[in-house]
Amino acid sequence: MKCAIILAGGKGTRMKADCPKVMCNVLFKPMISYVVDAVKEAGAEDICVITGYKHNEVEDYLASVDTNIKTALQEPQLGTGHAVMQADEFIAAHTEDEILILNGDGPLMDAETINKAYDYHKENNNSITLISAIVDDLNGIGHIKRDENGTLLRIVEHKDASPEEKLINESNAGCYWFNGADLQYALSKITNENVQNEYYLTDSLEILIGAGKNAGAYVVENNEVILGANDRVQLNGLNTIMRKNINNKLMVNGVDIPCTDGVMIGKDVKIGNSTVILPNTIIIGSTIIGESCVIGPNTYIDNSEIGDNVVLDNCKILDSAVENDVDAGPFVKVRANSELKKGVHIGNFVEVKNSVVGEGSKSAHLTYIGDSDVGSGVNFGCGTVTCNYDGKNKSRCKIGDGAFIGCNTNLIAPVEVGDKAYIAAGSTITDDIPENALSIARAKQVNKEGWVEIKKPYKE
Ligand code: UD1
Ligand code: CA
Repeated sequence: MKCAIILAGGKGTRMKADCPKVMCNVLFKPMISYVVDAVKEAGAEDICVITGYKHNEVEDYLASVDTNIKTALQEPQLGTGHAVMQADEFIAAHTEDEILILNGDGPLMDAETINKAYDYHKENNNSITLISAIVDDLNGIGHIKRDENGTLLRIVEHKDASPEEKLINESNAGCYWFNGADLQYALSKITNENVQNEYYLTDSLEILIGAGKNAGAYVVENNEVILGANDRVQLNGLNTIMRKNINNKLMVNGVDIPCTDGVMIGKDVKIGNSTVILPNTIIIGSTIIGESCVIGPNTYIDNSEIGDNVVLDNCKILDSAVENDVDAGPFVKVRANSELKKGVHIGNFVEVKNSVVGEGSKSAHLTYIGDSDVGSGVNFGCGTVTCNYDGKNKSRCKIGDGAFIGCNTNLIAPVEVGDKAYIAAGSTITDDIPENALSIARAKQVNKEGWVEIKKPYKE
């Protein structure tokens, strides 16, 4: 059985964040979420996360995504080896298993790399298999020291390294497969005799080799997977790589992104064939978009379901459902819990909130549809407002099929407009309107002939 320990105890001082480092976002999701997904995808059946700095934040987040994930608290934080020691019960339960240990702040590590390292680990009957990479930037890395035959010796942390060791360009990725029992043994031998007085997990390599065990290093094919972030500049770098990877994958699958400028699409988003994504469009959460849509420019979609042939031009769509053939924008906001049924047209400066807008209904401009159940084939005149809030309570409006709402109508909720009812422009509707009725709710027009000449209200 495969299981995993994720290290997430560190503060990440250089990030200058008020959250734990692993909770810093890449493409609007905490870094640790990618690590959890990768280890699950790689087949880890039991997961333990080591928490420390602001552990509640990490624990609450993990509980919100998967209640089966275990945690172990590390306080104070005395190094990566000390972190793993806190999972002693977890390790004791998995002495017969293979345990993956990896950093919670490396969101680009993927299941494919983890599994290739696992295969290598099993084929060679290793006690420990490191993942390593040949890198250009040697600063701060754990250098992997081999003898003249290339046999692994140990890992030397940059701060402890001699000038010659500092030149070794094979870097420890901070991702390892251990045999459970051998991990338990190695942890019992790790000390803090080094420059930082920390318990280094990396010492377990030398300890296990010394005990006559097999050890190996799996060198990654693509260096990107080992990248982490220590500050916001590096975090931006991770965003750039993740964004590129996701966009490329979508394009390969038939999504059209003619210009990727400002296009940020989350990892869990699904987009259908021949849909076009235009610049400055952010699509996140568990959004699903159908085929042949045009999304953007300047559109933000979070956690929504969008059908086929939908046009969203300069829209903000949150936690809502948009059916086939809807055409919305520019400058449209659809707030949580809304449904735009098939063929709805929503034009400039229209806001919809917590409402259902029925099939083929149209609201071309300057309208607020809040807490409303709108039937099919309804026409909203310019400037219609559903007055859903009286300062204390929110109430709903119901508008029947085929109703015509004249321009500048106020519907004072709760109120019901019958099917095919017709409201005169400028009406303030406080009472229900029966079906097929005309409702006029405004003062009658009075023209006073010659009044201007008599009163002379203008300056000469
Ligand atoms: C570690 C490795 C180094 C490797 C590098 C790759 C050690 C001693 N060094 O160094 O060889 O090249 O990762 O990124 O392991 N953490 C805890 N508790 C602690 C300390 C750290 O949970 O007491 C967690 C951090 O939150 C982080 C991970 O462990 O997720 C790695 O810690 P970090 O301090 O970044 O290790 P590096 O110095 O980068
Ligand atoms: Ca690090």
